[in-house]
Formats: sequence, structure tokens, C-alpha cells
Amino acid sequence: MEAVILAGGYGTRLRPLTYKIPKPLIPIANKPMVMHIIDSLPQKVEKVILAVSYKRDVLQKYLEENPPEGRELVLVEEKEPLGTGGAIKNVEREISGDFLAFNGDVISSLDPSVLTNTLIEKKAGAVISLWRVNDPSHYGVVEMRDGWIRRFVEKPRLNEAPSNLISAGAYALSYDVLDLIPPGRVVSLEREIWPILVEKGMYGMEFRGYWTDAGTRERVLEANSLILQGMGKKLIAGNGSEILGNVTEHTSIGKNVIIDGSAEVSNSIIMDGCILENGSKVVDSIIGPEERIAGRVIGEIFCTGYSNVPKN
Ligand code: GDD
Ligand code: MG
Repeated sequence: MEAVILAGGYGTRLRPLTYKIPKPLIPIANKPMVMHIIDSLPQKVEKVILAVSYKRDVLQKYLEENPPEGRELVLVEEKEPLGTGGAIKNVEREISGDFLAFNGDVISSLDPSVLTNTLIEKKAGAVISLWRVNDPSHYGVVEMRDGWIRRFVEKPRLNEAPSNLISAGAYALSYDVLDLIPPGRVVSLEREIWPILVEKGMYGMEFRGYWTDAGTRERVLEANSLILQGMGKKLIAGNGSEILGNVTEHTSIGKNVIIDGSAEVSNSIIMDGCILENGSKVVDSIIGPEERIAGRVIGEIFCTGYSNVPKN
């Protein structure tokens, strides 16, 4: 079985970090988001297809240096991003039957084999994972009856949302779904394909545990905190890091980071090779790789030295 991971978005809400690193490579508990997804895949997934576009070269380099064990990995590039549906159509030649698909920015406790088992059991066209939230207006929202999705509305106004159950961004799809996606143009799964699939039998599965769409600073930090809590750790640090200062929960520190004696850090992600000088303070922030911090960074995405800023 194949799994497609959508990993080609611009990550606009995580700029300027995503000017340097594509969103799927942002580390959550020192492991790139996309690797959290790959590691959660059931054994029967033999091939992982990454649908990439923006910053393909950076993703390719990382995956060549850190190949996932025991699975074939294929990168398929869109010259220009084709949207979530166009990206899936664009990898059609790599798919041989029913398959799994994932938004590449979701960190969750979902066991995807539940989706594939239900696809067979219910003879559905698609099974999508669902998560309950207070404010569904930033997501795709479903109206359900007896487990079947009756309506799908992407990012409705709060007062127009049919429920507070949202698409959690992980799907088991029957092979036939590929025929519903028009080729060669930008297609949104959420706005164009799910509404058609609803007619053909789209089953929804709510799950519990944890879930975050790590698309903003707050939610990347929330995902980081959730994973660290799950590991029973307040702090993790990679090889070669030297932590002399005061680091409080929940913080992930990459490799070869130096935190000087009177520096303070809390609830943050500090990427590889950073230096936090004496007197610096980092709170609720994400610090990109190889940065030198001398002052206060509070509630920021801090990243310098990028080039090739996209036009959009
Ligand atoms: N290859 C490729 N090409 N990937 C893309 C493209 C594209 O043109 N556009 C977006 N992606 C990838 C993003 O990188 C991300 O991993 C995923 O598709 C979803 O895109 P987002 O931009 O993060 O969408 P969203 O968070 O606003 O909404 C989506 O996710 C929600 C749950 O997290 C929708 O699927 C909602 O329905 C859903 O509730
Ligand atoms: Mg997202």
C-alpha cells in the first residue's frame, strides 16, 4: 500500500522560518513533522510518496541523509503548487490501489490503520479522520449522520459551521478517487473533491488522544509541548549541545546549541547550531538554525539569513 504526504505548501503562517526550511521539516521534539507522520504509518505501507513543490531541494537533501527505514520513498515535484487535490492527481502513476493520504503538518496520536480497515469494512469511497474543536472556522467542517459525512464545508464562518467536528487531515482513499480529480490544474481536495465524494460515500472517524495542525507558531509550540509531555520530558537536547542557562518547560533544543549561563529559555524550539548569549531571554518562540541571540525574543519566529523569498 502507498501513503501520500502533502508537503508542498508555502507555510506562509510560519514565515520567516519557512523562507529557509519547508514546514514539513520543522522539528517537533527534535524530529521533523513529516518524520512523525512516516513513523506512524502501518507496516503494510511499503511506499511513501511525498508530494513536494516549495523547497523541494531542502526536503530531498534531508531525506537522502535520513532515509526512513524499510520503506521506499519517492518525491514527486509540482513545478508550481497544484493544491491539495492537484498534488494527489500528480502522483497518480505511483499509486497502485487504495491508499492513505496525509496533510504534512499534522501532529497527532491517530493510528492510520484504523482508517484503512474502515475503508474496507464500510465499502466507503473515503474515510477521513475527525477531531473535535471549539472553533472549527479555520478547518474543514463536517455534518454527520450515522458515521457517514453528509456535508463538508471548508473554513466556514463560525456561525455557519454545521458542527465542531473537523477534518484532521488524514484520509484513507479508494483508488477510484483519483478519477474524480481533474488533471493538469490546481485542485482543492477540500473545496472540490470532498463535496463530490460525500455523494459517493465518505465515512468519518473521530479519534481521541492529541491532535494539532502545526501551521502557526502557537500550534507548533503546542505540538512540541504535547510530544514532550507524552515522552514525560520537560526538555530535550540534541548531541553536542551545552546547556548552562535556565531552560524551563516545554523546550526542544537541537544539536550543537550553546545556552550560556545567564540565558533563559521557556516553551520554545531552538534549532541546531544556535548560540544564546549571556543575558538573552527566549520565551514562546521558535529560533531557526544557526542563530545568535543576544537580547529578548518573546513570542517570535526568529530566523535570519534566508534568500529566494517566494513571490506570493
Ligand atoms: N504538494 C502540495 N501542493 N502540498 C500542498 C499544497 C500544494 O499545492 N498546498 C498545500 N499543501 C500541503 C501543505 O503543505 C500541508 O501539509 C497540507 O497540504 C494542508 O495544507 P494547509 O495549507 O496546511 O491547509 P489548512 O491547514 O489550512 O487546512 C487543511 O488541514 C486542516 C486540518 O489540519 C484542510 O485539509 C482542512 O480541511 C483540515 O481541517
Ligand atoms: Mg495546515
